Amino acid sequence: MGIRIAPSILSADFANLAQEIGRVAEADALHLDVMDGHFVPNLTFGPPLVAAVRRVTNLPLDVHLMIEAPERYLQRFVEAGANSLTVHVETCPHLHRTVHQIRELGVGVGVALNPATPPTAIEYVLEAVDQVLVMTVNPGFGGQAFIPAMLAKIRRVRAWVEQRGLAVSVAVDGGIGPDTVRSVVAAGADYLVAGAAVFGAPDPGAAMVRMRELARES
Ligand code: DX5
Ligand code: ZN
Repeated sequence: MGIRIAPSILSADFANLAQEIGRVAEADALHLDVMDGHFVPNLTFGPPLVAAVRRVTNLPLDVHLMIEAPERYLQRFVEAGANSLTVHVETCPHLHRTVHQIRELGVGVGVALNPATPPTAIEYVLEAVDQVLVMTVNPGFGGQAFIPAMLAKIRRVRAWVEQRGLAVSVAVDGGIGPDTVRSVVAAGADYLVAGAAVFGAPDPGAAMVRMRELARES
């Protein structure tokens, strides 16, 4: 499977969002970061913005829920046009149930791990998900520095996926850009979320092309 790149609109100019999204037409998906000010120390947006983005692009919308009790909002995000929903294991005491709720809504299922959370947290739901999102920063803000200790976690999750013969994607989110693409891809990541490295670049399209080249080199 090839490497996919999903720009995070968190680093885009929200006052010109449709235009910004037009600049990343070559992306494989758009990554939308939903934050509640409780699970993470920042606030972003909810279903209305996802619906607005849905109206201006045909790209798959990958919605990353950094919110407590995400099960309360799954359906609303699907109705808004999400193609996949990723929940944090730290917010889901009944993760197995939540994963199946997302599946029943007919969209892709992702589970995310904070940097301090061991990969064993998803060991028993791995067969039931489409993607594991390894957070490579503490969630909450764009433009933070990549945490190198996460490479071992990426390797661990990738090894489980291979050993079990699954088609589960291994995604990384946080501090991904020209300096880190090679190492995360070499460790087994196949889906790269990047905010600052794409929307902070003078030419977001060219930044993605460069990231794809670097991924091929690894
Ligand atoms: C962090 C978010 C990320 C963020 C990544 O809490 O989940 O998706 O936008 O931003 P960069 O790529 O700038 O680290
Ligand atoms: Zn994210």
